[in-house]
Amino acid sequence: MTAEPVELPDRAPDLAAAPVAPVPGADPRTLDVKAKQAAYHDWESRTYEDKFAISYDERCITYASERFRKVVPDGAGFGSVLEIGAGTGFFVVNLALAGCLDGADLHATDISDGMLEVCASNGAAQGLDIATRQGDAEALPYDDASFDLVLGHAVFHHLPVPAMALAEAFRVLKPGGTLVIAGEPTELGDRLSWAVKRSTWRAFRTVTAVPGLTSLRKPGVRESGGSESDEVMAGLEHEVDLHTFRPRDVEKMARLAGYREVRVITEELTANWFGWAVRTIEGAVRPGLLGLPWALGAYHGYRALHRLDDDLLARIVPREAFYNLILHARKPYPA
Ligand SMILES: C[S@@+](CC[C@H](N)C(=O)[O-])C[C@H]1O[C@@H](n2cnc3c(N)ncnc32)[C@H](O)[C@@H]1O
Repeated sequence: MTAEPVELPDRAPDLAAAPVAPVPGADPRTLDVKAKQAAYHDWESRTYEDKFAISYDERCITYASERFRKVVPDGAGFGSVLEIGAGTGFFVVNLALAGCLDGADLHATDISDGMLEVCASNGAAQGLDIATRQGDAEALPYDDASFDLVLGHAVFHHLPVPAMALAEAFRVLKPGGTLVIAGEPTELGDRLSWAVKRSTWRAFRTVTAVPGLTSLRKPGVRESGGSESDEVMAGLEHEVDLHTFRPRDVEKMARLAGYREVRVITEELTANWFGWAVRTIEGAVRPGLLGLPWALGAYHGYRALHRLDDDLLARIVPREAFYNLILHARKPYPA
């Protein structure tokens, strides 16, 4: 028996046109992976910046531009820039404020409309005109060869098939265009950070079990006035983180997608452990208890350890152990 030849379409189906918005009234726990991402991040969009201490001032401008300048030391003059999975605009807005994107047309896309609304208003508040469009990073709603620079920060680990997003970024980049993906967790770095989170959490619970100290604990979602649906949405947090990455796999994936000048660097070892310990306590303690001295200590402690990681530990510890991965790649000109 001869099998019928399979007819392949010219290109992937236009998944960008497929609805990702949750069906009203549907239980968010039963949604498919992308609708779940959209629902969770819509819900999180109004509190996201508080949770991750995002701001548009010296602290975050320095953080974003240092990540970018590690792989694009003196690049400039990007005519058009797209951030994928832009969220509330942390990366694109702070990079623009740092002067890394001077003169560029700024575009942002995300699967969550809620995130994009906050992104547009954050841009406007900083005098930036950011064109936003809801879309899936694995099926971008933009024409081929539209951008000189494609950015992403902390988005690839949310994507079911990251290689598809690399291919889509390649498609929408102009020849010679640059891709910078930052803020992705490495496999080993993530395992180490979980050990830190777990032990910090256990230590905090043990100390605050002492009578008189239990009031230091943050009340649960319901006790602090949240609805049943808030509780369900909060519970999705660990379902939307899909991947961690090995640096060499990301390099291979980028080369297979057609990129050249592929480079993956990693950073944050002790700084990351310190950061997760701080964030675990911030997430566990009664709101309003930790004041400015805590915030300043956390910031300066993180900066000091970051210097230790960059200046010393990066020379002796394998890159796999560092938490944060940054990918740089270029789309070649046609031969
Ligand atoms: C951890 S947040 C990062 C947001 C922002 N880039 C930042 O660094 O603050 C992850 C973002 O990825 C978005 N996202 C998840 N899946 C996506 C997909 N398939 N396509 C586009 N964006 C997606 C989420 O809606 C969310 O805004």
